[in-house]
Amino acid sequence: MTRLAILEYPDPRLRTKAEPVSRFDADLSRLVDDMFETLYASRAIGLAATQVDAHVRLIVIDVSDDRSAPSVFINPEILLRRAIGMVEESCLSVPGVMGDVVRATKLRVRALDRHGVPFECDLEGLAAVCLQHEIDHLLGTLFVDRLSFWKRLKVRRELRRGGRAVAAAEPGGSLAPGA
Ligand code: NI
Repeated sequence: MTRLAILEYPDPRLRTKAEPVSRFDADLSRLVDDMFETLYASRAIGLAATQVDAHVRLIVIDVSDDRSAPSVFINPEILLRRAIGMVEESCLSVPGVMGDVVRATKLRVRALDRHGVPFECDLEGLAAVCLQHEIDHLLGTLFVDRLSFWKRLKVRRELRRGGRAVAAAEPGGSLAPGA
């Protein structure tokens, strides 16, 4: 398995709209494995293929504390959104920035697994928020696009200065692990 390079803001490739996966072959299987390797090495909870410059609708997520619950979502569709909440997010592609985003906190989702087998599941809390964050990546959207106007202005100014927009969370004790 290989740890993949992660594209960082303002790389224009992060704005690419991903294509649906149509072939479930060895190349796809390798990409899934490499994305998990990258996710765990980065101590993140979610990764979209867009972030590793592979523009297909593929997401890997593991929100468990002991990194024991890898989930793959291919060509994901949100069937139902319920219960809105505001959650502080961060992103591997926008290092050092955290911000509150309004998201649904309960979802019904349909997707394909790594073998192309369809499934439906209910997600809530961190997993629901993380999946929406990753689906945004597949559409070329970053969580900073969803921040309030004033917060966006502050983030942009700080990033231009090369600084950190908001103090990052404690190492290892992040409330909003990168995604
Ligand atoms: Ni992200």
